[in-house]
Amino acid sequence: MASATDSRYGQKESSDQNFDYMFKILIIGNSSVGKTSFLFRYADDSFTPAFVSTVGIDFKVKTIYRNDKRIKLQIWDTAGQDAGTGPCTTAYYRGAMGFILMYDNHQWRKSFQWPKSRDWSTQIKTYSWDNAQVLLVGNKCDMEDERVVSSERGRQLADHLGFEFFEASAKDNINVKQTFERLVDVICEKMSESLDTADPAVTGAKQGPQLSDQQVPPHQDCAC
Ligand code: GTP
Ligand code: MG
Repeated sequence: MASATDSRYGQKESSDQNFDYMFKILIIGNSSVGKTSFLFRYADDSFTPAFVSTVGIDFKVKTIYRNDKRIKLQIWDTAGQDAGTGPCTTAYYRGAMGFILMYDNHQWRKSFQWPKSRDWSTQIKTYSWDNAQVLLVGNKCDMEDERVVSSERGRQLADHLGFEFFEASAKDNINVKQTFERLVDVICEKMSESLDTADPAVTGAKQGPQLSDQQVPPHQDCAC
């Protein structure tokens, strides 16, 4: 299993303590939908056509300026597996403030069945912070000729699940940055709403929005 300190993911930014907020974000979805590619495109502006399935879980750190704040993103890349079969992954949902739920536009059966998407959604609701924000992303929109999931169908699913929707391509760098920035914005919006209403369930200690390095769950070994 990959370790959270594996050098492949490079952690040079992770020791930087100069930030206003730190958000933990998870990219989840079935195998081969493009989660690792999406993360590498965003964090390193790189893409490789080779498929090396992720083993375990790992993260990259990227710091951005948004809404006049320096925001450190700790972005976790999970191993693709069917929703409901990943106890190791769900342990990492704790403290996550945002999720990118990804499917692949050209694989209907494997990545986009309605029941499966509902399973993922249920899993997020079960294992994460109550106010975690989720974006649904249909990746590989560059493969227009092989598309089997229409944009409309993706949007319908997003509406049904109550998530915002993006189509993207890690390969052609379409909507990758925009997806992360929108997710950060909705997390910030939710944070300010929560502070306005001063709901103790949100602002309290459960898994609050201003996650510090110390609160990040340590890497856990498990036998999956
Ligand atoms: P697991 O680690 O098994 O969960 O898979 P993953 O979701 O991380 O998929 P990964 O990023 O490894 O990509 C799977 C394959 O799809 C690789 O061959 C990638 O090069 C390819 N791929 C990823 N994103 C895109 C994209 O936007 N367009 C195209 N055409 N191919 C992509
Ligand atoms: Mg992967």
